[in-house]
Amino acid sequence: MTLLFLLIANVCAPCHPAIVKQYESTGMARSSGKLTGAAMAATVQDPSSGATYRINHDHRMEFERGPVKGSRLLEWFIGSGNVGKSFLFGMDGHLFQAPVSSYSAAGKWDVSPGFEGKRTIQLTRAVEPGCLQCHASAAQPEGGVSCERCHGPGQKHIASGKAADIVQPAKLTAERRDGVCAQCHLTGVARVATANRKAGTFRAGDLLSDHLAIFVWDTAEAGELSATSHYERLAASQCKQASGDKLWCGSCHDSHREPAAAEKAGFYRQRCMSCHAQKPCTKAAASSDCASCHMPKGATRSVDHVAFTDHSIPRKPRTASAAETRRALRSFLPAPAGERETALGYAVAAMTEPAVRREAFERLQKAPRDVAVMAQLAQFHDRMGQEEQAMALCEQIVAIEPDHPAAAINLAIYRIKRGRTAEAIALWEAALKRSPAMTGARMNLAVALSRSGQREKAMAALRQALRFEPDFEPAMRLLRELGATP
Ligand code: HEC
Ligand code: HEC
Ligand code: HEC
Ligand code: HEC
Ligand code: HEC
Ligand code: HEC
Ligand code: HEC
Repeated sequence: MTLLFLLIANVCAPCHPAIVKQYESTGMARSSGKLTGAAMAATVQDPSSGATYRINHDHRMEFERGPVKGSRLLEWFIGSGNVGKSFLFGMDGHLFQAPVSSYSAAGKWDVSPGFEGKRTIQLTRAVEPGCLQCHASAAQPEGGVSCERCHGPGQKHIASGKAADIVQPAKLTAERRDGVCAQCHLTGVARVATANRKAGTFRAGDLLSDHLAIFVWDTAEAGELSATSHYERLAASQCKQASGDKLWCGSCHDSHREPAAAEKAGFYRQRCMSCHAQKPCTKAAASSDCASCHMPKGATRSVDHVAFTDHSIPRKPRTASAAETRRALRSFLPAPAGERETALGYAVAAMTEPAVRREAFERLQKAPRDVAVMAQLAQFHDRMGQEEQAMALCEQIVAIEPDHPAAAINLAIYRIKRGRTAEAIALWEAALKRSPAMTGARMNLAVALSRSGQREKAMAALRQALRFEPDFEPAMRLLRELGATP
């Protein structure tokens, strides 16, 4: 695929031209952008849904499943393509993830990660703000990771040219320094925004723990290594444990430059030798490729955010570790996490790990209440069939945030069950204004409208549902029942 980049004039270039030039070729700098130039035409057949996706030279993605056909214009990409790229399209001012991605290793397009095994055409997955926070620098999926994500705001420094007016990560205290890379490279099990964020969004130089609590599985007792991110793995290494703050990402990586293939072995060896020259390896020559034995790579590098190169720097390559125990979470950052953040961390973990559901529920009940805590508690009560408690919480949330999607659509269901149709309709409409691609809510709205005699509005709602999800059969069926052709 040929991709040309809209080169936005870099404000640092006039005074740091060499760094700007070098940085342009890194994966980070190229990690998001607008699609320009011609795309490589491709066809993807999704075996589970039976849908066919065709990518045309003009970046139009056509989809077809049975009689249903349509297209979307892919406008942005996420991922440099070193491993793969995801694509985004816009609809009614909202951004969605394309169901197909390109994978560099296989040299082809395929179903996107997390979209496998679906029965229908998937066009309603909203792009989480997280994707853009890590792959771009603003709310728009463009421009990749900018200088200022690691150096903080540059205005004052540009005007003065003084070192004191810009953040140099290596000169920060270890905790602040590490936060610069951890804001994106420490995925963990759950990342929870703190309630009392002191100064809005994180800026290089801040303490990351003022903005985020990050939780990982506590496998210390079992001695397992289930960590997936580079950060967690490095923390488990002897090198890190024995050197403490001296070792960090910047000990081995040059943030502005990726070494060329031929230069790599020597580049990283030099890093190892900065600490290991005194006591050389007993098993290999000092001129060998240290990382090839001590930082082995996984079998295939995928786009699932798992470290490919083993950053736990083992003596001998690890054998597959035993099934991990997932009973407790541990806050990863040095500052302790609050009760509220811990409860929310458990709630996130409980979505994929039933073993911690009870703990999550108990912690949520004790935690200081705000919208985030109440929304999680409402989900727990709802799942346990405790409708009265769930309803009371949803009422409180909607009083604060009338279009809170989860609370509004659940409250609407409780309302309709009690015959309060007009209120239910208003709630669904509010939630759909904010998140228009929630087909389930739109279907419920259509049924409520039709039962209250508002046939035209019901049909409009169904047509709107089919704009976002064109092969959603229940919507077609209801349209037919209302006497219209889908
Ligand atoms: C008008 C020229 C100018 C521009 C524009 C400029 N810088 Fe600088 N920068 C300098 C000079 C001069 C120094 C060296 C200052 C010194 O050593 O006292 C410097 C030093 C630095 C340092 C090292 C600070 C330290 O503590 O050692 C960093 C980091 C830096 N610049 C980043 C940036 C970034 C990021 C941008 C764009 C947002 C930028 N600069 C734009 C002139 C500029
Ligand atoms: C704003 C988020 C963000 C920050 C801050 C960040 N990274 Fe990255 N980093 C990424 C993303 C996203 C990628 C994957 C880029 C791709 O290939 O699409 C990446 C890739 C990398 C890679 C692989 C090589 C490459 O350039 O693709 C290295 C090494 C790396 N980062 C090191 C660091 C270090 C060291 C720091 C801290 C000094 C840091 N990163 C800070 C987001 C970030
Ligand atoms: C917490 C930060 C973070 C979030 C959130 C995040 N990513 Fe990433 N992503 C990374 C980092 C760091 C890398 C590269 C290193 C790695 O694999 O850990 C990466 C790698 C990728 C790659 C492979 C890029 C390449 O070719 O090297 C793709 C594609 C990708 N991410 C897409 C996404 C999409 C789509 C989302 C949202 C659903 C997303 N990412 C959310 C940090 C993040
Ligand atoms: C992924 C994080 C990251 C990004 C993005 C980044 N830098 Fe840096 N930069 C660093 C780190 C870390 C250091 C300190 C290196 C050291 O001293 O070990 C540094 C040092 C510097 C320095 C001072 C030391 C030197 O090498 O001259 C300048 C100037 C600078 N960066 C400019 C820039 C500019 C301009 C950009 C954008 C083109 C940029 N940086 C992007 C992390 C980053
Ligand atoms: C900041 C210093 C530092 C850097 C850089 C560093 N190490 Fe280490 N490493 C240590 C310390 C300290 C120990 C523990 C004491 C010892 O064995 O010397 C250690 C231990 C090890 C061990 C033994 C692990 C075990 O489980 O017993 C290996 C293997 C190793 N390092 C390899 C490497 C390789 C390969 C690199 C480069 C990719 C590297 N180290 C980079 C400081 C470092
Ligand atoms: C002891 C040296 C060392 C340290 C410290 C280190 N890395 Fe690496 N890292 C490597 C090596 C070696 C590679 C493989 C480079 C290659 O083959 O291209 C690598 C690769 C990567 C990649 C590319 C994806 C992959 O898994 O191959 C990313 C992203 C990355 N490192 C991030 C980080 C982050 C974030 C930190 C800090 C938490 C860090 N690294 C600390 C040595 C190190
Ligand atoms: C051919 C594979 C290989 C290469 C290349 C290699 N090592 Fe090792 N290294 C080993 C093995 C195997 C051990 C474990 C010996 C044992 O446990 O009996 C080891 C042990 C170590 C240890 C622990 C102390 C010791 O000697 O027992 C350190 C530190 C170390 N290596 C560093 C390095 C560094 C630095 C380099 C690059 C200059 C390097 N190794 C290159 C295979 C290798």
